[in-house]
Amino acid sequence: MTSELLQKARDFEAQYGPHIPDRERPAFHATPTIGWMNDPNGFSMYKGECHLFYQYHPYSNEWGPMHWGHLKTKDFITWERLPAALAPDRDYDAAGCFSGGAVELPDGRQLLMYTGVQRSHNAEGFLQDVQTQCVAIGDGVNYEKWGENPILDERDLPEGGSTVDFRDPKVWQDTDGNFYAVIGNRTEDGSGAILLYRGVENFRGEFVRTLDRSYNQYGKMWECPDFFPLDGKQVLLTSPQEMNPVGLEFHAGNGAVCLIGDYEPEGKGFLRQYVQSIDYGLDFYAPQTLLAPDGRRIMVAWMQNWGTVGAKPYHCRWFGQMTLPRELSVKDGRLYQNPVRELENYRSGCVMHRSIPVCGEVNLPGVQGRVLDLRIKVRPTGGEMYRWFRIRVAKDGEHETIIRYRPSNGTVKIDRTRSGLPHDIVHTRSFLVRPRNGEIDLRIILDRFSVEVFVNGGEQAASAVIYTRQEADAVTFEAGGSVLMDVEKYDLAFGGQEREG
Ligand code: FRU
Repeated sequence: MTSELLQKARDFEAQYGPHIPDRERPAFHATPTIGWMNDPNGFSMYKGECHLFYQYHPYSNEWGPMHWGHLKTKDFITWERLPAALAPDRDYDAAGCFSGGAVELPDGRQLLMYTGVQRSHNAEGFLQDVQTQCVAIGDGVNYEKWGENPILDERDLPEGGSTVDFRDPKVWQDTDGNFYAVIGNRTEDGSGAILLYRGVENFRGEFVRTLDRSYNQYGKMWECPDFFPLDGKQVLLTSPQEMNPVGLEFHAGNGAVCLIGDYEPEGKGFLRQYVQSIDYGLDFYAPQTLLAPDGRRIMVAWMQNWGTVGAKPYHCRWFGQMTLPRELSVKDGRLYQNPVRELENYRSGCVMHRSIPVCGEVNLPGVQGRVLDLRIKVRPTGGEMYRWFRIRVAKDGEHETIIRYRPSNGTVKIDRTRSGLPHDIVHTRSFLVRPRNGEIDLRIILDRFSVEVFVNGGEQAASAVIYTRQEADAVTFEAGGSVLMDVEKYDLAFGGQEREG
């Protein structure tokens, strides 16, 4: 039965969602039907289609009592809107249906596992959350909350585990046939841990082990975990709060971290070997992955950062978008990310320029637009090493978003200072790339309100939201010194919508 609160959200989004014209939204990045979106939830396959739920507050462009919004896709690029899936309509989730996962059950139904939040005054009179894990079962559109919720509560925590910060279950069915979930928790030292549970009867779970802990090294609470094997290694993703900056690897605040290691399920558990940031740009949090039927591990994340969510266009009717889904791989202890290959089906208007000498600033015929797939390869001319190379996109007389490479210190910088955000927030970020004698290979995916950069075949990714007016569509290239450059440009065109460029 659809509760009054859920029906209200469904009526609201059906009434007001269609008022937002397509051109006020990204062309191919997922956005909420209306209002606010944060984390991706339940990113998973169900009956051969990919479902993507999201943290949702339809009634304003601010975070509020969390619902689950719902989208699905056949190809990770075009999204079909479905009615809101969950509303905070029970005692155990009255303060919000927080993040979680989804999985197809052996009987063909879809299970959503989420964190139910209850808020009450503690002994000192302060408002405090209690977080438990809950499930809802449905048919891909409508879901019934389980009569025995919550299925995991304080009794299921290891010693020292917090009931205030116990959230974001990611659930999957493993090759041994069992269902597992990883869940974020805060430990007695005040920092985060990832707990592993195994499913037992009645959708309940038993605690298996703590997979890894921050020990106050990688931030405080660890949110939104994911855990999967990839290319012979085991990967643990988590999004820590309150990180300290470390060189150019980690910035302060909310980060998204990838831990790579080995996994001995019957032995020592997860043995962490490598730690890195997942995305080196400005806007990336709470990634979640799925295993596609063809074996690809595909990741999507919220393309925002909690630190800058106040910086939004005034009166916007939607806020928050997802990254382009990315194919993951692990090589030499590092996580690689590349745009899902399905994006290539939407390419048109190919323009290629080979071995173009650049010293000073150039534009190239046919290279402009705001919904683009651009590939740029740069190399030194043979003589002296160049000092820097810059690409400016979303550019007009007043605006530009700059991607700059400096070979002497091996850094790429993304700069959205002049990208339509009239707010005093962080606008630039630099990160280290592996030096290749002055060669660099950049793939830049531009949508109306974002730029995503993939460096050297996916060794690094960097994402940023921009709000530059759409008429600012010039692309220029500039070198301090001289380089040779190859450029491959495609427009990205989507059914029913006007071609860009
Ligand atoms: C991460 C997060 C999650 C929580 C959700 C609430 O962005 O804080 O830990 O479940 O957002 O919307």
